[in-house]
Amino acid sequence: MKFNRLISGVALLSSLIFAGDSLRELATNNGLTPIPDNKKKLYKIIDPKGLLTPQKILLGKKLYFETRLSKASDISCASCHILDGGGDDNVPVAIGHKGAKNPHHLNSPTVYNAVFFDAQFWDGRSPDLEDQAKGPIQAPPEMAMTPKEAVKRINEIPQYVAEFKKAYNKDVKIDFDLITSTIGLYERTLVTPSPFDDYLNGDDKALNKAEKKGLRTFIRIGCTGCHTGIAIGGSMQPFDVGKDFKFAHLGDFKGGENGLVKVGTLRNITQTSPYFHNGSMDKLEDVVKEMAKIQLGKKITKSDIKDIVTFLKSLEGRKGDTSAPTLPPLKK
Ligand code: HEC
Ligand code: HEC
Repeated sequence: MKFNRLISGVALLSSLIFAGDSLRELATNNGLTPIPDNKKKLYKIIDPKGLLTPQKILLGKKLYFETRLSKASDISCASCHILDGGGDDNVPVAIGHKGAKNPHHLNSPTVYNAVFFDAQFWDGRSPDLEDQAKGPIQAPPEMAMTPKEAVKRINEIPQYVAEFKKAYNKDVKIDFDLITSTIGLYERTLVTPSPFDDYLNGDDKALNKAEKKGLRTFIRIGCTGCHTGIAIGGSMQPFDVGKDFKFAHLGDFKGGENGLVKVGTLRNITQTSPYFHNGSMDKLEDVVKEMAKIQLGKKITKSDIKDIVTFLKSLEGRKGDTSAPTLPPLKK
């Protein structure tokens, strides 16, 4: 009896000592990857070609906030991807030029951590951020510009011309590709390390007991089947936009190649309501339930939903300087 108690005491003690490690191992074995806490390691991922410099980042940020890149000079990237919030706009459908709603009833996804996605846009049609940025400037329901007019406007602003020269070289040609790729370079820096990352990076106390339980539940239910990797999403996966999804009728989005849909990142997910490609659901609890049902064929309990949502809160990350930069005046 005494001996048994001693054994179970030792077992309990060791399970307490290794509790942190085993959950961390479980998470990494299921493909969950932290944002590195080491700057060098992080830059290897977000800037594999070594293109980022402080000048380019600041110039890209100005262009990101630049309303003169839109036809009516009233909308910028920051209008729909608000950096103070979750990197989106918190409305179901994106609203652009002259109040136009996205014709496919598409919701603005977050720009935060988009650098970690395998592909950009809900249908994955763009390979990276530099390429992606060409889309919204020209899209009639977004910024409604022609590349020619965008290039003309930027070249007319002496301070921009000077800043491009400083960031690149004195003979640089400021064309549409350079303007959009500079915005993309800035977006590469929009990463948000969270308590979850701190935990995976070795800080046992970064997550509390309830969040750890939630992480276990998230893995046990099978969410990591798709919400995995450093983006906790960001790959292209099947999603029945035609049939099973409760709000399939909203909008005409049918997915990309083979009907695949970009898996939304779960980072900062508590700040990016409403949810799904068509902005059809407001409450995170409902989305978790719907996901378990359509993606995993599971009916999950209320307490599992609560646990998962508690874990999802630990993915709220630390944002960098989100304030709008001072934009160059039209004349010197
Ligand atoms: C009118 C609102 C609006 C404006 C302005 C806008 N976007 Fe978007 N953005 C959206 C919508 C809607 C989508 C999804 C469109 C789709 O998938 O076809 C999107 C998608 C994206 C994505 C892909 C993210 C992902 O999860 O796949 C990135 C990155 C992005 N926008 C960056 C930008 C940049 C950079 C600008 C400025 C040059 C910009 N956006 C301007 C609404 C907007
Ligand atoms: C088979 C792959 C798969 C599995 C498993 C899966 N998801 Fe998803 N998830 C997706 C896809 C694809 C989307 C994007 C759907 C859309 O918006 O059309 C998504 C979207 C979401 C969103 C909304 C993101 C946003 O920004 O709008 C949340 C939240 C979410 N999933 C949570 C979960 C949870 C929690 C689980 C486990 C219960 C789970 N998912 C399981 C593929 C999956």
